[in-house]
Amino acid sequence: MRPYDVILKKRNGIELSKEEIEFMVMGFVNGEVPDYQMAAFLMAVYFRHMSETERYNLTEIMARSGDTIDLSPIPGVKVDKHSTGGVGDKTTLVLAPMVSACGLPVAKMSGRGLGHTGGTIDKLEAIPGFRTALSEEEFMKNVKEHGIAVVGQTANLAPADKKIYALRDVTATIDEISLIASSIMSKKLAAGADGIVLDVKVGSGAFMKDIASATDLARAMVDIGKRHGRETVALLTNMDRPLGRTVGNALEVKEAIETLKGNGPEDLEELCVELGAQMLKIGKIAETLDDARKMLKDSIKSGKAVEKFRELVEIQGGNSNVVDDLSLLGISSKTYEVKSPGDGYVYSMNAERVGIASMLLGAGRTKKEDKIDLSVGVELLKKTGDEVKKGETLCVLYYNDEKNLLSSADTILNAYEIKNTKPKEEKLVHGVVQ
Ligand code: URA
Repeated sequence: MRPYDVILKKRNGIELSKEEIEFMVMGFVNGEVPDYQMAAFLMAVYFRHMSETERYNLTEIMARSGDTIDLSPIPGVKVDKHSTGGVGDKTTLVLAPMVSACGLPVAKMSGRGLGHTGGTIDKLEAIPGFRTALSEEEFMKNVKEHGIAVVGQTANLAPADKKIYALRDVTATIDEISLIASSIMSKKLAAGADGIVLDVKVGSGAFMKDIASATDLARAMVDIGKRHGRETVALLTNMDRPLGRTVGNALEVKEAIETLKGNGPEDLEELCVELGAQMLKIGKIAETLDDARKMLKDSIKSGKAVEKFRELVEIQGGNSNVVDDLSLLGISSKTYEVKSPGDGYVYSMNAERVGIASMLLGAGRTKKEDKIDLSVGVELLKKTGDEVKKGETLCVLYYNDEKNLLSSADTILNAYEIKNTKPKEEKLVHGVVQ
């Protein structure tokens, strides 16, 4: 077999066998297939796509390319959750303690942010002392004894995906459904959960800009999960505006803690309840989604969810006083207010631009190696549907370095569309694929 022949076959739209896919993927991982041939192969997939069987095989090959986690020593059904990436998406910080407080063990591996989207691991590192790298023993012990652990992915989890993703990132081959679905699902399969709840974001801040393509992605991932024997459900959720009112690491931790205390933004709490309900149902903690929703809301009202968050911070070495004293998060004290240029309503927001504005302040990375500033970001005082007066503050930028402050302010101002008419209410959950 030669890489040339596999590229040619895919380029001509012919279905590849498992052996051919394995030959390309593992050859690339082992350094036998050079970057230029893998790049050509990925571009052929981009234009010719993959059949369900090809996708399934690609996912399995990538999932088996490194370590796989065995969660079987943890009693009960283990359910993972994954978001396809959004702006202001601090769901895991709220959802993990909520579902754990309801009795579902959470053994979560999360990622870092890239580009305009944030990542849970960066956010957690805004908590002084919090360790996101635990040994496998400590990870398992914490889940067994405390019902919760949230860590960064081990270096050797689906290394084929890591290497291919880096190449896709520089060859304009990220946004192809089979490639995204197999990339996400290979990591989920390797991470060992019995069930998977997917949050597929749709809108201006997401990879998938419309409901039709988000549905295709959701179907592809649910199909891969089920074929691998994992109960899998996907929610299609709104990313036409950022989730909650903050974007940026320490700011998002603050908002997550406020939400766990019952004082958070409605959209964030609702999303956590909806995703959590699917998790509790798959995990057999609740019989119906309505029972699960009630349990999750009660976990906030009773204070059990915020206490579980405190416990998570303590067992991973963080300063749990942050729960009572949010100033310990070290949010920058330098602020800049962006004012409304006119009267009216916020008619729409471009979530990607909000993410870029936050990134320009230093909260995000353009390259994997970039260092980020955890103390900066954006607080949105006005969001879609809110009335505004000329000169009123739309949002507050928290910054340290003045270098990109004005371009960030300009970017975020361009993210707001202000009109005289009030926009129609948008749904938070567009649909469920299962
Ligand atoms: N997230 C991933 O992990 N992979 C993709 O391809 C896209 C988003």
